[in-house]
Amino acid sequence: MKESVRIGIVGSKFAADFHADSYRRHPRAELVAVAAIDNLEPFAKTWNIPATYSDYRRMLSEEQLDLVSVCVPNFLHAEVTLAAAEAGCDILCEKPLATTSADARGMRDTCRKRGVRLFYGEDWCFSPALRRAREIVEEGGIGRPLYIKAKECHNGTHSPFAKDKRTCGGGSLVHLGIHPVGWALHLLGDSGANKVVEVVGLCTGGLNDNFVHHDNSGEDFGLGVMHFENGEYCLVEGNYITIGGMDDKVEIYGTEGVIKTDLTFGSPLSVYSRPGYEYCIEKAETTAGWTRPAVDEFLNLGYVDELAYVVNCILENRAPDYWAGGDLGVACIEIIEAMYQSNTTRKAVQGRWG
Ligand SMILES: NC(=O)c1ccc[n+]([C@@H]2O[C@H](COP(=O)([O-])OP(=O)(O)OC[C@H]3O[C@@H](n4cnc5c(N)ncnc54)[C@H](O)[C@@H]3O)[C@@H](O)[C@H]2O)c1
Repeated sequence: MKESVRIGIVGSKFAADFHADSYRRHPRAELVAVAAIDNLEPFAKTWNIPATYSDYRRMLSEEQLDLVSVCVPNFLHAEVTLAAAEAGCDILCEKPLATTSADARGMRDTCRKRGVRLFYGEDWCFSPALRRAREIVEEGGIGRPLYIKAKECHNGTHSPFAKDKRTCGGGSLVHLGIHPVGWALHLLGDSGANKVVEVVGLCTGGLNDNFVHHDNSGEDFGLGVMHFENGEYCLVEGNYITIGGMDDKVEIYGTEGVIKTDLTFGSPLSVYSRPGYEYCIEKAETTAGWTRPAVDEFLNLGYVDELAYVVNCILENRAPDYWAGGDLGVACIEIIEAMYQSNTTRKAVQGRWG
């Protein structure tokens, strides 16, 4: 077995931070290099990373990396993944796997051909609360699940790349709604056992046809419905019109019970502060008055366990499970594309996804 996993991160900002933090918590993850086009030195200093590169291809050729973390804007996921696969590295790619399903399938198939592992970073599949919810469903605690209602919503993206359809692949549905899509596939359709057969989507129109974010070319409000072949329905929501902090909630309705989870406001802490304090939860605009600060946000959202799982798979020479691999990433972007198609045609789209 390998002593440690040598890791290079491509990207140096928001997602790169939670990757670096989560790797730092694993005793056998060795963060050796970062490549990005800005924020390189501050990022490397914060996380004590020895080598920095302004060109990720140089990092791939000069460092003997086992694993590359892809934390760049969506439109670069495919090119960075293909280059890393070419260099013989395993890859953890952030969501969405790509901006188109054709690119996503190409990434999955190339990694397969090259014999490298492709991990898809759907952190919800690793969130401790959602894993516990899944265990309760699996043991029959709520009978047969019938309906899931799940969302990730906040007040707008921090990343200029995510405001532009050309670099993001869409708007709030592909950026936020993709979390519940991936997690619902994990809960109800793991390993392709229960396919999604019908999809509906409705979104605002981008730019002046958005509710609030007229500088976003993608939608700032999106709803999607997934209908599974075993009959279940799942309503997913991803919007940028939700103020007050990032709102991630899941409800599962079964024949014998209900489960409700609140990933971002479900803190055991309640704080009342007159002056406010430094940080509460992602995208919260104020920390004054009554707030519910996260105790360990990266753990709650699943990043810490996700990255530990990836490192452990490599150490133990294991392939990713369905819910952490390229097939899930491909299914997610195919379903999001079907939602966009449905929004355009105003008709349900039939297929077999998952
Ligand atoms: N799992 C999650 O919940 C989650 C949360 C946030 C972001 N993400 C994903 O992470 C990815 C990055 O998002 P972000 O919020 O960190 O974006 P960001 O805009 O904060 O950072 C983008 C990073 O990419 C780097 N970059 C841009 N072009 C590059 C190039 N040609 N070569 C090398 N580096 C380049 C920039 O230097 C920067 O460090 C996106 O795909 C996003 O969807 C996932």
